[in-house]
Amino acid sequence: MTIQWFPGHMAKAKREVTEKLKLIDIVFELVDARIPMSSRNPLIDEIIANKPRMMLLNKADMADPDVTKQWIEFFATQQIEAIAIDSQSGTGVKQIVTVAKEKLRPKFEKMMAKGIKRPRAMRALIVGIPNVGKSTLINRLAGKHIAKTGDTPGVTKAQQWIKVGKELELLDTPGILWPKFEDEEVGFKLATTGAIKDTILNLQDVAVYALRFLAAYYPERLKERYALSDIPEDIVVLFDEIGKRRGCLAAGGVVDYDKVAELVLRDIRTEKLGRLSFDRL
Ligand code: G4P
Repeated sequence: MTIQWFPGHMAKAKREVTEKLKLIDIVFELVDARIPMSSRNPLIDEIIANKPRMMLLNKADMADPDVTKQWIEFFATQQIEAIAIDSQSGTGVKQIVTVAKEKLRPKFEKMMAKGIKRPRAMRALIVGIPNVGKSTLINRLAGKHIAKTGDTPGVTKAQQWIKVGKELELLDTPGILWPKFEDEEVGFKLATTGAIKDTILNLQDVAVYALRFLAAYYPERLKERYALSDIPEDIVVLFDEIGKRRGCLAAGGVVDYDKVAELVLRDIRTEKLGRLSFDRL
């Protein structure tokens, strides 16, 4: 899905999420575990304001586990409860309800103190940038037994609640927010991980960024993947070396840099270089 974020779109997205917040008890902020900062919306704190929130580091199966652990510890210092999940396989997903229940315990205890004997299920909204895995998580949480519990009249598109066990209800449409395009490095990280379309940024520029990052943080994996005895300083030489070894050639046998860029990015996104994290503390 390509989303062009113009100021009007951003304002509309913000308005829609703000409206949905009125209906829920807790926000599940979904980010990409490989880029937990770069895949956040820049205005998220302002938008969510005082709503209880949990951060879900999705696609943790693709991220460097040591770095994910550091991020979870970092968010804890910011009073943000973060958990690592893999919505595709379901790893960690069960924890969401447990942690949410704990976070909302004071609110529900207050309700019970006021005489409400059986508090209703917790209501939650998933928010996140495009492609972060919102639909995958909704389907995963819904499991096979999607039970829709009535519409809310009066809103343009009827909101529906998806029951997740007895204790959680999820709005069926997630809140879609925009990533931070204005920062060049953030853009490169979003492109490298496939969060934004390859047509948005120049593919060779993205691959240059990715290769420099790999050379700095994962040199051994880079060497192993492309059978390099060492990593050339000069990025053009590195492109040449990879291109020659992997047959990314144009007519006349010269290295085709576009093909090299495509190959490297495909290798990264399909985990041929292992689990990688691009946002670092
Ligand atoms: P969105 O609603 O936020 O836009 O994202 P969506 O669920 O469509 O997920 C975007 C892509 O990310 C999908 O891949 C999805 O399978 C993948 N994905 C979601 N969660 C995880 C996860 O925890 N781990 C991994 N490895 N991948 C995840 P796709 O290539 O666009 O589609 P497809 O492969 O499912 O066909």
